[in-house]
Amino acid sequence: MLAEAAMLNVERGAQIVDINMGCPAKKVCNKAAGSALLRDEALVETILNRVVSSVDVPVTLKIRTGWDMDQRNGLTIAGIAEQAGIQALAVHGRTRACGYRGSAEYDTIARIKRAISIPVFANGDIDSPQKAKQVLESTGVDAVMIGRAAQGRPWIFREIEHYLNNGELLPAPKAEEVEAILIEHLQALYGFYGDYLGVRIARKHVGWYLAGVSRDKDSNSHFGDFRKLFNSLDTAEQQLPAINKFFSSLQYDSKAA
Ligand SMILES: Cc1cc2nc3c(=O)[nH]c(=O)nc-3n(C[C@H](O)[C@H](O)[C@H](O)COP(=O)(O)O)c2cc1C
Repeated sequence: MLAEAAMLNVERGAQIVDINMGCPAKKVCNKAAGSALLRDEALVETILNRVVSSVDVPVTLKIRTGWDMDQRNGLTIAGIAEQAGIQALAVHGRTRACGYRGSAEYDTIARIKRAISIPVFANGDIDSPQKAKQVLESTGVDAVMIGRAAQGRPWIFREIEHYLNNGELLPAPKAEEVEAILIEHLQALYGFYGDYLGVRIARKHVGWYLAGVSRDKDSNSHFGDFRKLFNSLDTAEQQLPAINKFFSSLQYDSKAA
C-alpha cells in the first residue's frame, strides 16, 4: 500500500517521499502505522525496500528512538533504512511511550549518526538558536528539524541560520513584520483549506503568534481579550481587519508606554 501511495503521489508531482514512523497518535498506532511500525523490523525492511524501488524520487524516513525504553531499536532501524536506500533519516529523540514527556535524548541520535553514512537530522525540543547549535555540535548530525518551536514563530529558521553563520542573535522581529507574516500566513490558510476550515485553523495559529508577542509584555489581559474576540469571528473578512486593528493598538500602546 505504501509503495502504491508513493507512486500515486510521484505521478501527481511529489519530488520527495517522506515516510513517517514517528507518529505517536493512538489512532495511527492502533492501525500498526506511525511509530508502532518500529516494533516490526521485518515489516519496516519490506516497506522501505518496496517504496524505494517503486519511485525514482528520494525517499526519506522519520523515526523515534524506539517503541519504549525496553525496545529502543532506533539504531537497528537506522541500519535497515540505510540498507534499503533511504536518503536521509530524521530522528525524534524520544520513544513512542515517552509521547512528548521528558526531554529529548540526543545520545541515541548521536549513536545513530555515527553508525550510518546517510544524512541524519536531529529532532525534539530544539527551540532556540543556541539549542540548535548545541545539538548540532553534540550529536554531529547534518541538520536539525524544528516542530513546535516554529508554531507562531516561523522566523526561528532565519534566527538559527544567522546564529550559526555569525554567532550572534538577531533582534526579535518588530510588530509590523510579525503582522505582515501573520496576514500572509492567514491568507495562505484560507487559500489552501478554504473559508470554513481555514478560518478555524487560523484561530490556533493566531493563538501561537500572540503567545510569542505577549511573552514580551507586562500584561496578558489585552491579548486574552483579543483571543476571545478573534475566536468568535467566523469569516476571513472579519478576521483580517481584526488582526490589523489589534496590531495598530499595540503600536499605540508601545508609543504611549
Ligand atoms: C501538532 C503536531 C503535529 C505533528 N504532525 C506531524 C506529522 O504530520 N508528521 C511528522 O513527521 N511529525 C509530526 N509531528 C511531530 C514533529 O514533527 C516533531 O517530531 C515533534 O513535535 C518533536 O519535535 P519538536 O520538539 O521540535 O516539536 C507533529 C507534532 C505536533 C506537535
